[in-house]
Amino acid sequence: MGETIIALADLRYAAAVPQVPLHAPAPTGLLADRLGRPLRDLRISVTDRCNFRCSYCMPKDVFDTQYKFLPHSSLLSFEEITRVARIFLAHGVGKLRLTGGEPLLRKNLEALVEQLAALRTGAGEALDITLTTNGSLLERKAQALRDAGLKRVTVSLDALDDTIFRRMNDVDFPVADVLRGIAAALRAGLAPLKVNMVVKRGTNDDQILPLARHVREHYGPDVVLRFIEYMDVGATNGWCMDEVLPSSQVLQRLGTAFALEPLAPAAAGETAQRWRYADGGGEIGLISSVTQAFCRDCNRARLSTEGKLFLCLFAHQGHDLRALLRGAQPDGQPWSDEQIAAAIGLIWAGRDDRYSELRGARQAPSGGAERRVEMHYIGG
Ligand code: GTP
Ligand code: 5AD
Ligand code: SF4
Ligand code: SF4
Repeated sequence: MGETIIALADLRYAAAVPQVPLHAPAPTGLLADRLGRPLRDLRISVTDRCNFRCSYCMPKDVFDTQYKFLPHSSLLSFEEITRVARIFLAHGVGKLRLTGGEPLLRKNLEALVEQLAALRTGAGEALDITLTTNGSLLERKAQALRDAGLKRVTVSLDALDDTIFRRMNDVDFPVADVLRGIAAALRAGLAPLKVNMVVKRGTNDDQILPLARHVREHYGPDVVLRFIEYMDVGATNGWCMDEVLPSSQVLQRLGTAFALEPLAPAAAGETAQRWRYADGGGEIGLISSVTQAFCRDCNRARLSTEGKLFLCLFAHQGHDLRALLRGAQPDGQPWSDEQIAAAIGLIWAGRDDRYSELRGARQAPSGGAERRVEMHYIGG
């Protein structure tokens, strides 16, 4: 793989143009990074815009009317996204997650789902295709998404109490509309449905038990509620450890009301530790990226709205795949799928990211936090 050709690209992204190896074996699906981690999960952000302004993700004072979101011309088209996804499948990816911002703000997203659903894994199997949404447009869109081939959906829901929910989304959006979105998704057969609650101590931690009760009583085992530790992701949310409620304490609080039993992981590299209600009322998950990092098995890659590949949620820099998709080789020929696959292989093989683990061990690099990728841009 020694010799490389450097692709030409838009100067704004010049620093991160991938190298294309001249000679590289075809993808085998057995790619491993420097820590031996395979590539299994591709998360695709389809817009950097959102109609909510959750303070832990898009604080209103930063993401105001002056904020410059990506122009439409810089977004990957559905065809470009599908092409990238196909190349990733050859490398062993079997799970695609559409994220944002709020992915349902991207016009005609069903058309993208339809194109992605037609893809097959390297082993010829159908993909696990899912989507993370704030639920605000789900009631309207659930059936069309299901018809297009979406399998399941994850809805972010930080409170059941309307006042707290409106305060957290910071655009006065009522919780009832999200609950109707969840109901519509379940009716459409988008299952298993996951509900993600980011827990901020002092802001919504009193919603842990009400949400758990609501999910058990209204949906039972069809819905898995997951509690996420508030993370120091991005550079704008003013994160501090005092606002993190460790998962161990979430579990303790749940234990005051319910009997829970631990479950074995369903798949390698899972984000959540799973627990089940002893009475068969379903399961919950604890996502403890702050107090118990799960980098060791991290098999996730992230594609931004304008086609940059990020290897970690806490990365400062991406790899500009769009430069390869839209650019050309020195002889004017477009880059082939095989060449782009080889470039991605090289990038993944060099990966050694494990930010959360290093932060937990107080070894994370101290500089550069202000340049960290934002969650609304790269997705949850
Ligand atoms: P399922 O396949 O449905 O279980 O989804 P998932 O757990 O892989 O993904 P989901 O998007 O539901 O992740 C839930 C939350 O976990 C995200 O919103 C993030 O807060 C956090 N998270 C997901 N992936 C990572 C990761 O690689 N690193 C860290 N630090 N946090 C992550
Ligand atoms: N900490 C933890 N999770 C976050 N998300 C966004 N910002 C944060 C943060 N600071 C996740 C939530 C949300 C999804 C879109 O992104 O899970 O549901
Ligand atoms: Fe909130 Fe999700 Fe929108 Fe971020 S992308 S502001 S977490 S709804
Ligand atoms: Fe993966 Fe980075 Fe998250 Fe660790 S911090 S689990 S390496 S995305």
